[in-house]
Amino acid sequence: MKYLSWDETLFRNPEVFDPEYLPEELVFREQQLNRISSNIKPALNRSRPVNMLCLGPPGTGKTSSIKLIFKEIVESEIQNLVPVYVNCQLVNSNQGIFAKIFEKVYGYPLPSYGVPFPKLYASILKKLAESEKVLIVALDDVNLLLDDKIMNEAIYAILKAHEEVEGVKTGVIAIGTDLKLAARLDSRVGSIFHPDEIYFPPYGEIEIFEILKKRCELGFYQGAIEDEVIEKVAELTFEAGDLRVGLYTLKMAGMEAERRGSRKIELDDVLKSFEGSRKVFLRKCMSMLDDLERELLKEIYSTDEDLTTGELFERFLEKKKLSYTKFYNLLSKLENLRVIDLVFKSLKKGRTRVIMRRFDSEVIMGALREFK
Ligand SMILES: Nc1ncnc2c1ncn2[C@@H]1O[C@H](COP(=O)(O)OP(=O)(O)O)[C@@H](O)[C@H]1O
Ligand SMILES: [Mg+2]
Repeated sequence: MKYLSWDETLFRNPEVFDPEYLPEELVFREQQLNRISSNIKPALNRSRPVNMLCLGPPGTGKTSSIKLIFKEIVESEIQNLVPVYVNCQLVNSNQGIFAKIFEKVYGYPLPSYGVPFPKLYASILKKLAESEKVLIVALDDVNLLLDDKIMNEAIYAILKAHEEVEGVKTGVIAIGTDLKLAARLDSRVGSIFHPDEIYFPPYGEIEIFEILKKRCELGFYQGAIEDEVIEKVAELTFEAGDLRVGLYTLKMAGMEAERRGSRKIELDDVLKSFEGSRKVFLRKCMSMLDDLERELLKEIYSTDEDLTTGELFERFLEKKKLSYTKFYNLLSKLENLRVIDLVFKSLKKGRTRVIMRRFDSEVIMGALREFK
């Protein structure tokens, strides 16, 4: 090779900076991991697991925690438990969720010809009863399902399984960013769900530094980056409010240093990469939004006022007819993608949430124009 010789790279393992990478150890999440695993434990003795509701802002390690525990279950070859992870952003119906469950329970995908839901449901329960396995389903980003009706139906269908077929045992781990998620469950679900609520608080700047430093040790060769430079990345990441931006910045800064032919990542490489990283994230965000969501985002960024959710709803209603629930789900998605914050505020008559913009208006409008 003429341009790329392997011994000149700064990267020991570039994958550790990718968003799909699952660390073997999650620092600062000991407590949450212990709670999750002790709630699952009864299932090892074929008892029903404790249901859970994992809540916290984006980028606080919820998905990673569940995946880490599920990975351990699979790797330790625990026989009497079927863990199913469902990314609710990618499935939009009860059928979609149960197709995932079918695949894990049977070990092969659901045939592509339309299997009616009652039949699909019955075949899953039959197999669980025969094999005497406990089913545990993690519904990740459950607040991003199309609407609350699907969320309620899915949780209900999973949990009432034992009434349908004797001996079947199931549990649900619902994961979301909306702290008031429990209030969106209907009474039917409320009567059988009773989740243990596990909170994932945002990381502070020092915690972010520790996490990024660990990742640098895995990803870069020794001496490629100094602590002060990681500190700067931590500071910027803390402001941006999302660990993913920090991880991406580190990767880009490493590549920038390589381009310069340097054996060290300097502060300048970080500063150069950070702006670019934020833009890349923004573009990615925009591509995940549909027309209605982009319109709402535009509405939010075309004013300087800090509107409450109620005020924004009224304004948006003049343009689009939609229910408050639908509107709130759109807002949750925007929050989840870190383009806005929803901040609690006390008013004279109770509490409400105010929408805060995380970017300059021009930056968002520019990104939106690209998707015209
Ligand atoms: N405690 C931690 N230790 C190491 N990496 C973490 C930790 N928490 C989060 N991360 C990393 O931050 C990113 C976002 O975490 P994720 O689990 O997707 O958060 P959430 O599901 O809460 O949005 C992932 O790349 C993950 O590897
Ligand atoms: Mg997640």
